Amino acid sequence: MPEADSVTTLDLGDEVALAPYDPGGWPVIVEARTNRLRQDESHARSWFQEHKAVFDGALASVGALILRSFALSDAQSFSRFIQHYPSMPYGTAGGAAKRSEVADRIYDTVQSRAPTSQIGMHQEMSYLPVYPKQIAFFCHVPATTGGETLIADIRRLERLVSPRLYDGIKKKGIRYVRSTRAPGARVDAPEEHQDYLRLYYQPWSEAYATTDRDQVESKVQAAGQNFEWLPDGGLMTSYTSPGFVTHPLTGRSEWFNSITINHGNYLSADLPPDVYARAFPLGAPKPFDVLFGDGTPLPEDDVLELCRILDSIAVAPRWRQGDLMLLDNTLTAHGGNSWTGPRDILVSLFG
Ligand SMILES: [Fe+2]
Repeated sequence: MPEADSVTTLDLGDEVALAPYDPGGWPVIVEARTNRLRQDESHARSWFQEHKAVFDGALASVGALILRSFALSDAQSFSRFIQHYPSMPYGTAGGAAKRSEVADRIYDTVQSRAPTSQIGMHQEMSYLPVYPKQIAFFCHVPATTGGETLIADIRRLERLVSPRLYDGIKKKGIRYVRSTRAPGARVDAPEEHQDYLRLYYQPWSEAYATTDRDQVESKVQAAGQNFEWLPDGGLMTSYTSPGFVTHPLTGRSEWFNSITINHGNYLSADLPPDVYARAFPLGAPKPFDVLFGDGTPLPEDDVLELCRILDSIAVAPRWRQGDLMLLDNTLTAHGGNSWTGPRDILVSLFG
């Protein structure tokens, strides 16, 4: 577990109480105690701004914090609350998730998700050259059941992951490969999976919002990726990254990659094994895949074990309306649980 005890001594003043999340002791909850912090939005905002350096230090130590009972009511107040954080240089462009901006710098998290879906654990946009350093999630409406934003401590993962995979990535890095299909091309899969496949294996005209190949190429190159037009009219892009990153505050090298959600297997695709094998037979392009940086395959057993480890160490803090969860994107992976009832969880990414 991270060093939660060290955070309970942090100097956030006496307007808040600090407590480790129960059960499990992680993440740390920062609860507003005074009526001013609970009811006066502009006071809550100034308090949060004044303590930014303390929050940055705390996040670099524990990786995840939940602010509870602050005067935060909706997307607009969430947006005003986080304006002193640096924004991402390109917003969410290039990310695999479909998002819409519901307030300045605030995005919804569920546009392309069915309530029954699970989002695998990942470090946000770690498959791209530019990624957020920190993330804030805000609970506008909690689900009736489930719907937690799952979190996992990367330093715990680093102690559990197979040395073969860890050392292989340290040595060779990681290559992310994405294929988008030719506009109009059909995937060989039962009808009930076609809606999902329209999002999972997009036509490049939708992924890049243009039918002009030159424009697609400019966008891909601007994102620092290599590309290749395929004989069937599809497009394959790739990006090679170290798979580890030096944390800007601690100076430590940490595991930072998206193997579990980008690897070409049925688990990351959220499809039955036989449907995946029929839709993406051996040798055909896969919508998403991850290889070692030298182009050799990752051992599939190690990847499946990695998924299991992340699931086993994931923590599911129960959302309360108005909660704000701050994550260090290097030290903490996140994912999403399925849910019932309404659910509105919003997100902002910090550069
Ligand atoms: Fe995410």
